[in-house]
Amino acid sequence: MSSRRTVLVTGGTRGIGREVVRLLAPTWRVLVGGRSESSVAEVVAGCPDAAGFVCDLADEDAVAAAAASITELDAVVHSAGVLGRFGPMESQSRADWRHVLELNVVAVADLTRLLLPVLRASRGQVVVVNSGSGFTAGANSGGYAASKFAVRAWADSLRAEERGVLRVSSIHPGRVDTDMQVELQSAEGRDYDTSIVLEVNSVARAIVFALEAADDAVVESLSIRPSGLR
Ligand SMILES: NC(=O)c1ccc[n+]([C@@H]2O[C@H](COP(=O)([O-])OP(=O)(O)OC[C@H]3O[C@@H](n4cnc5c(N)ncnc54)[C@H](OP(=O)(O)O)[C@@H]3O)[C@@H](O)[C@H]2O)c1
Repeated sequence: MSSRRTVLVTGGTRGIGREVVRLLAPTWRVLVGGRSESSVAEVVAGCPDAAGFVCDLADEDAVAAAAASITELDAVVHSAGVLGRFGPMESQSRADWRHVLELNVVAVADLTRLLLPVLRASRGQVVVVNSGSGFTAGANSGGYAASKFAVRAWADSLRAEERGVLRVSSIHPGRVDTDMQVELQSAEGRDYDTSIVLEVNSVARAIVFALEAADDAVVESLSIRPSGLR
């Protein structure tokens, strides 16, 4: 049995989640979440004390089976997410709505529900990688913004219900230099512009700050935006 605290990081194979894994690996036992056995195995191999959490978060039964294998847990970082279909409301099908809400809201809520017994036992933490789109919604990303508003509400409710037992944090980055941002800027029809994005390390450090807050404190909501200095 490991003497380290254990954290599950969903979306640990790429982007922000992968950088969170890298920063936590020296001191935490890390459960690396991802869909692909080989991608997860590659990240696990780079950590001193880690294991895989392989499942498609849209697959209810697979998530339940994977969650049942976790017997000890101090924190979960929900980083897995999707952009959904870019475009105006009239272009959004029922399937588009289901896809973005399934990953960004339903999967977060359901996985956390399944983990509540082990998280409560450790007086644990739940960190949700939300977005600036969890506060303000503009044109063409309405499904994504709706999912991020919803998961902010979910986190606020969970925090209120579990106060004194669990600490629940919402992290709200602006644009971040990841595959998702490449997809977004391409959909926006612009050449990829690194001057308007945060580095993954800057955001991952904010997530670690929330996770490693003293236990008399909870980082409830943290907004992190590009400074314009680079
Ligand atoms: N990038 C930004 O500009 C930005 C800004 C604000 C907030 N965020 C939020 O930050 C979080 C991480 O985004 P990112 O930019 O790091 O994204 P990313 O680079 O596109 O990576 C997404 C991650 O989510 C995982 N994932 C997607 N669908 C999944 C599924 N069905 N089951 C399991 N895992 C799945 C992916 O796993 P696979 O490798 O298996 O595909 C990957 O590890 C998201 O919640 C996003 O909304 C991003």
